[in-house]
Parts: sequence; structure tokens; C-alpha cells
Amino acid sequence: MVDTEGCVPLLRAVELSRVVDGKALVQGATFTLYPREVLAVVGPSGSGKTSLLRLLNRLDEPTSGTVYLNGVDYRTISPRELRRRVGLVMQVPYLFPGTVADNVRFGPRQAGIILSDKAVEALLARVGLPGYGDRDVTHLSGGEAQRVALARALANRPQVLLLDEPTSALDEEAKAGIEALLQDLLASGEFAAVLVTHDLAQAARLAQRVLVMEAGRIVRSGPVKEVLRAGSAFP
Ligand SMILES: Nc1ncnc2c1ncn2[C@@H]1O[C@H](COP(=O)(O)OP(=O)(O)OP(=O)(O)O)[C@@H](O)[C@H]1O
Ligand SMILES: [Mg+2]
Repeated sequence: MVDTEGCVPLLRAVELSRVVDGKALVQGATFTLYPREVLAVVGPSGSGKTSLLRLLNRLDEPTSGTVYLNGVDYRTISPRELRRRVGLVMQVPYLFPGTVADNVRFGPRQAGIILSDKAVEALLARVGLPGYGDRDVTHLSGGEAQRVALARALANRPQVLLLDEPTSALDEEAKAGIEALLQDLLASGEFAAVLVTHDLAQAARLAQRVLVMEAGRIVRSGPVKEVLRAGSAFP
């Protein structure tokens, strides 16, 4: 359990909404993420979980409301800088054509930093892929590709990781491996995370707090074990 008392919020979403063609994908989402915290987001398919994540690093533009990162309105931060500080890992990773090392170097290079071979190797070792730098990304398994996506996000030294169902496209074995890796990375306390998942047991294992979404709204939130106990609150 992360002790949030007296903590300065790392990220605060205030009345965040996104309306597309008259339909509210996200409506009035207000919540706080504290340093080192893992916040799970659950809810039925189509309830707006991915839409909410995409608003948190401005991949989509809110219709109203905003997000404060370290107390600073994110509209004043350049999108590129924002996406380095608030990284996104998707269900099925989109890797750029080329080698694993090219992918890991991508974010820092955009900021004018060329990662050394040693730095790339350290990141790959951290995600359980030592020696993978020269491999072509087209030859990776789903689990390996997800590890590269994590290394690519970590290369930016993010403050927040947005994880959109990071294990749901994987087979059981790869899923267990990625979850163990996430557990490790999240326990490092180097960043906070917002984890969208359909797997309530996974939410309980990885997160301290949970938001439940329905039809674009946050309908319940609280410590993961309390909300889990309420049972019916979950889809
Ligand atoms: N770009 C878009 N334009 C219009 N509608 C969209 C867009 N993206 C998503 N939607 C709709 O918004 C709603 C929320 O979608 P979203 O993908 O956020 O749900 P989700 O909770 O992530 O679902 P899942 O669990 O299936 O991933 C759905 O009704 C979806 O069809
Ligand atoms: Mg989704």
C-alpha cells in the first residue's frame, strides 16, 4: 500500500472529458495519481478505459478539463516532452521497423540523446532481453515485443507509465512473464502507473487503487481490495 498522506500528486486529472460526434467517450473524469502508485482502471468493454488513457498523455485532446503533471497544466508542456514523461504501452506493441536497439533508442534520440550500447543493453537486461539489441523486431514473439515496448518506454525515464491491457494479447506463459516483469518494474518506485486491465486478479496483484468505469464515467474508486470485495462493482 502506498502511503499517500502528505504526498504531492504526481498527476491530477480534473473533469476530463472527450466528446466525439456528440458521444461522450470520457465524461468528467477526476482522479489523482501519487508518486510510486499503481492505479488500475477496470470496466466493461467500451466503457472508455483506452479513451481515458489516451487523454492522459494528450494522444487525444480533451474536449474539456485538463491534467496537471507535478502541478503544471499539461497543455503548457510540449506533446513530445509530455509523452516522454507519461509513456504509453499498448496491448499490442507497435514497434518501428528495424532492430530492437533502434526501438529502444528512439525516444531519447528525439530529445537529442544518443543512448550508448551499454545503456541499451542495461535497459534490455532490465526487461529480460539481454543480448537482443541487434535482433530485427519482426522476429520477436508477442511477449518479447511487449518487453521491447517496455524498454522503449523506460528509456525515456518516464514519471508515469500508462499500460493499456499489457498482457491481454499474450498466451498464459508470456502473460505470467510480463506480469512478473511489471511487478518488478513497478516495485522499483521509479515511476507511477495507470494500468487498464480486464483481469481483476491482476489488478489486485499490481495496483493499490482502482477506478471502475462505466459508459465513460468513473463510477467507483478506492483501494483495490475494498472495491474488489464489493464484487458487484466489477464487470
Ligand atoms: N476515435 C473514436 N471515435 C469515436 N468513438 C470512439 C473512438 N474511440 C473509441 N470510441 C468509442 O468510445 C467508446 C469507448 O471506447 P474505448 O476504446 O475507450 O473503450 P475500452 O473501455 O477501452 O474498451 P475495451 O475494454 O474493449 O478496450 C466505445 O463506444 C468506442 O466505440
Ligand atoms: Mg481498451
